[in-house]
Amino acid sequence: MKLLCVGLFFVVLTANAADFGLDCSWPIHSTDWKCGDLLGDRQVVYDHYMQGCREKWGTQGAKRCDANEADRLEMTRRQPQSMVNYTSTGFKKIKAPPKVWDMLSSYWERNKDDRQLENWGKGNIYTNNWESETYMVSVDNAGLRGGGQKFKNDIWNAVRPTIEEWTGMKLQPTSLYGIRVYTEGAILAPHVDRLPLVSSCIINVAQDVEEPWLLEVYDRHDRAVNVTMEPGDMVLYESGSLTHGRPYPLKGNFYANIFIHFEPTGERLNGGWVEYDDFHPPYIQPNSPEMENWERRNPAGWKKQSPSVAAPGVHEGHAAAAHGDLESLREIAAENKRALHLKDKNGWQPIHEAVRAGHLDTVKYLVEQKADVNSVTNFGKGGVSPYYISLQNHGYEHPVTEFLSSLGAIMVGPEL
Ligand SMILES: *[C@@H]1O[C@H](CO)[C@@H](O)[C@H](O)[C@H]1NC(C)=O
Ligand SMILES: *[C@@H]1O[C@H](CO)[C@@H](O)[C@H](O)[C@H]1NC(C)=O
Repeated sequence: MKLLCVGLFFVVLTANAADFGLDCSWPIHSTDWKCGDLLGDRQVVYDHYMQGCREKWGTQGAKRCDANEADRLEMTRRQPQSMVNYTSTGFKKIKAPPKVWDMLSSYWERNKDDRQLENWGKGNIYTNNWESETYMVSVDNAGLRGGGQKFKNDIWNAVRPTIEEWTGMKLQPTSLYGIRVYTEGAILAPHVDRLPLVSSCIINVAQDVEEPWLLEVYDRHDRAVNVTMEPGDMVLYESGSLTHGRPYPLKGNFYANIFIHFEPTGERLNGGWVEYDDFHPPYIQPNSPEMENWERRNPAGWKKQSPSVAAPGVHEGHAAAAHGDLESLREIAAENKRALHLKDKNGWQPIHEAVRAGHLDTVKYLVEQKADVNSVTNFGKGGVSPYYISLQNHGYEHPVTEFLSSLGAIMVGPEL
């Protein structure tokens, strides 16, 4: 009798404190719901979500919805346990540094009326884009006022010290995405980011909502935490290990965010390097399930694969090529043609970046500008040629591989 009372008391207490874990608001590790009706009938919400994707994409696409969903769950199971964590909490909300906020808010004000529909691709289940469209006021868009590669480098440079200080590690940029504009009804399925999106931040740039649109994260003990944001707020988060999403639909007009990502280089902020072997990234734990997965996908190792988007400002040609930003490449060429063919410290030229990213336009442009299609990376020490990079990343039938082949490009792989 006594035990039963304690049990009941516990249930009531946890319910009041909204203290719950995985697979309650949304499937995180599995589709077995753990909280009954604590949050209302989430099964109905989730079924509607998945059904929306399947109906949008028809019979063939429906398979992709399910495969992508299985992949999301696989990642949320595999990645968090495998990553090296650099902070005790995994997330922290602060105000964006004034310089960063100035850059972003003025970009938004100048360009918000030129938003474009975001293309999510077939069967993507990260948002309910089939029901609630998202838009982009992209910092990539050189057609917008102030947009393009230089602006991106400026943002990375302005944000980096804050996240370096928080993680205690030197960082290099890996991705910069946004400004994404979510609209009424939007849901963002909880997820971890694909690598190398490791040390990251979200900045809320603008919003027009009836109630706060909650960011739900799962803390180090797998407990759900709601985070609210206002324009100018910056949430630092270890996006490769911290599960994050917005499982409750957006009530209001819109919500505009930008996502800024880095990966640790292995060098500590206060000097010295963490121990790692130069082939594997320093931020995945050795012998973990993610390391196994990573090795399969990155046979050429970390350093060689790591684009020199790494050094912001220094390798603008590489970064523009990696992002397929033809406009910026033309601007760079107008200033200094040689910048299109510079080698970074791994012997990579913009042509290698463009090929790896699979941008046919950019590859063609660089070839027109006299890039050497047979240039081998790594200064003669086990490097690879563009054709090899293309084959490895995209396969024989990809337009970039076919284009290189039509030029008679040769294959040089690391073992030859
Ligand atoms: C790193 O963080 C994730 C997510 O918070 C957690 O699941 C994992 O156990 C942590 N890893 C270590 C070694 O503490
Ligand atoms: C987050 O907010 C939602 C909606 O108000 C609520 O149902 C849920 O219990 C909250 N989660 C936590 C962990 O407090």
